[in-house]
Order: sequence, then C-alpha cells, then structure tokens
Amino acid sequence: MSHALLEPITLRGTTFRNRVWIPPMCQYVVDAEDGVPTPWHLMHIGSFARGGAGAVIVEATGVVPEGRISPRDLGLWNDTQRDAFAPIVSFAQSLGAKVGIQLAHAGRKASTHPEWGTDGTGSLTEAEGGWQTVAPSALAFEGLDAPVALDEAGIADLVSAFADSARRAVEAGFDFVEIHGAHGYLVHEFLSPLSNERTDAYGGDLAGRSRFLFEIVDAVRAEIPQDMPLLVRLSATDWNDAGVTVPETAELAALLADRGVDLIDVSTGGNVLADIPVGPGYQVPAAAEVRASSGVPVSAVGMIDEPKQAEQIVATGQADVAMIGREALRDPNFALRAARELRVDIDYVPRPYHRAYK
Ligand SMILES: Cc1cc2nc3c(=O)[nH]c(=O)nc-3n(C[C@H](O)[C@H](O)[C@H](O)COP(=O)(O)O)c2cc1C
Repeated sequence: MSHALLEPITLRGTTFRNRVWIPPMCQYVVDAEDGVPTPWHLMHIGSFARGGAGAVIVEATGVVPEGRISPRDLGLWNDTQRDAFAPIVSFAQSLGAKVGIQLAHAGRKASTHPEWGTDGTGSLTEAEGGWQTVAPSALAFEGLDAPVALDEAGIADLVSAFADSARRAVEAGFDFVEIHGAHGYLVHEFLSPLSNERTDAYGGDLAGRSRFLFEIVDAVRAEIPQDMPLLVRLSATDWNDAGVTVPETAELAALLADRGVDLIDVSTGGNVLADIPVGPGYQVPAAAEVRASSGVPVSAVGMIDEPKQAEQIVATGQADVAMIGREALRDPNFALRAARELRVDIDYVPRPYHRAYK
C-alpha cells in the first residue's frame, strides 16, 4: 500500500510533515469578548500538533470586531491579540506542526449568538452586544437580521483590514494564512450571485463577484513573505442552481493561483439554506473536480473520518491534503493513529507517548 497521506508536502518555502491537516473550527470561548486567544486555544491547537497533524489552522478570526460571527470569536485586529497568539503558535510548532490562521469576516452572518449559547439563537440585538452587519447587498440570510450594503470606501477599509491582520499573523509567527471565502461569510457573499446583486465593479460576472477576493489576496500577498503559503477556503457549490457552481470554482481557483494562492481548501454550502447530501467524504468530488480542472493543489474536507479513507483520497489524487475536523475533535491524535493503522514509520510520536505507539 502506498503511504500518500503521511508523505510530506511542500507549498512555496514550507514543508509540512504530512497531509493530515486540521481545518479551522470556531470554539466560541473568548468570554472576555475581546478577540484574545485563551488557554483553551493553547490546549486545542496544541493537542492537534501533539497528535501529529501536518498543519493546524486556527479558527475563523475576525479582521475587524464587526467581522466576528459572535462576540466570543477570536480576532486579530490589534497587537494585544497578536501577542497572545505568538506563544500558542510557537508551542504548536515546537511539536512539529505548521500553524496557519483563517482570516475572516462574517458579513451578513456576523453578530449572532455563540453556537452553543443558552441565551438564544439568531442575530444579537444591540442590547445583547450585537452590531449592524454588512454585506455586498442588503439581503438577509434566512433567520438573521438584514445587513447594510457596503459602499466602495467600506470595501477598501476591509481589504486593508485583511492585510493588517495578515501582517500581524506574520509577526505572531504563523507559518501560513488562509482567507475564509466559504460558508456564506462576507467573501462568499460577494462570490455568489445569490447574495450579490451589485451593479458596480464588485458584482455581475465572475470577475466582478471575485474582485473583492482578488483585492484581499493581492493585499495579503503583499504583506506576507514571498515564501509563505497562502490558502483560500471556498464553498465550491451553493447546492443551488442559481448559485456558485463547481466548474466556476475551478475557474476561480486558476485565477487565484495566478495571483499567488497556493492551495484551495474546498468546502461547500453555507450561503443559503439547501439540501446537502451529507455523508462520508461528501465534498471530495468537488475538491477532485476543482483540482483536475484547474491544476491547483486542493484540500478535501467533510466526514473524512477514517485513516484508510483519507489515504485513498490522497493516494488517488482526488486531493493533495485531507482535512480532518470533527473526527479530530474526537481523536486529536488522528495522524498518529493513521500512521499506526497504515503501518508507516514516523519520527514524530511525542516521546512521552512512545509506549502507546510501539
Ligand atoms: C465546531 C466547528 C467549528 C467550525 N468552525 C469553522 C471555522 O471557523 N471556519 C471554517 O471554515 N469552517 C469551520 N467549520 C467547518 C470545518 O472546518 C469542516 O469543514 C467541517 O466540520 C467538515 O469537516 P468534518 O466532517 O471533518 O468535521 C467548523 C466545524 C465545526 C464542527
């Protein structure tokens, strides 16, 4: 059996020890509501690094306060946040993982109750600490308050905010940056005709709907070192005939690669309510199609829960990387388990755990 999953992969100047990566997963634990990471994040990120992952991507992190999904999200709009990230990043790196951060703006899906809040669902009122949301067009996500459409000055400010956060990510020691362009958050809202009805340069055809993302990519690329990988997470389909489609996403992937994006993290959905045929590896075909049509490296994510399943996805060239989300919450040592099950010798079983992995 080949061992594609546990093979290193190099993007630009960075070599990752394997292709088991941990996708961003919001924790909603910043009780101080100041966007500053906590000991929970040190433990959470550190546990995946200890568990052998090639890369760990820190959860969606707001580039401005209003870009958070909830008040308990992480942020990277100030230096206090940056300085609190630095020891978390270096600890995970000391365990052999590369560490990335997903820079995000939640757009019309911002200002909501934290996921497992006991105090309600949907949009927060101002009295509850919520704020006015923004989006490409004043179209509400079902069940949430209506956003205000951004004007061109507002768009330019947000492009700068992404760049400023990327600079702070570099200063904090992150190995790479991922731009959140999926799941119905602000970038995806621009990309999808279902949420973008603009008639100016930021709407219309693919080039117009992609302009906001292109400007972010160019601004971020200008702030990060030449040899630092840049990823974009995209929802390859809205699961709606009038929305984003996989062929269009493949076209977009090629355009992004031309601008210096190194890997497309292929997810789906989140911009409108849809019937999604959820099951093992349900988003892998989208990743495979984007990879085959564009020639750009991709990761696949979504119910990849077994080492042999992940190995098969990478070995057959459907994706370059397998991202393991909820299964890694259940078993943060997924990569160590994979090496054991696939009978691959690795040299990064932590010394205190050697007796468990003999
Ligand atoms: C608790 C939780 C939080 C998540 N937060 C994010 C996030 O911050 N950014 C993001 O792009 N996706 C987020 N996701 C989606 C995951 O990254 C992943 O794409 C999804 O869970 C499917 O993969 P899985 O079946 O391996 O869990 C989250 C998922 C979970 C379960």
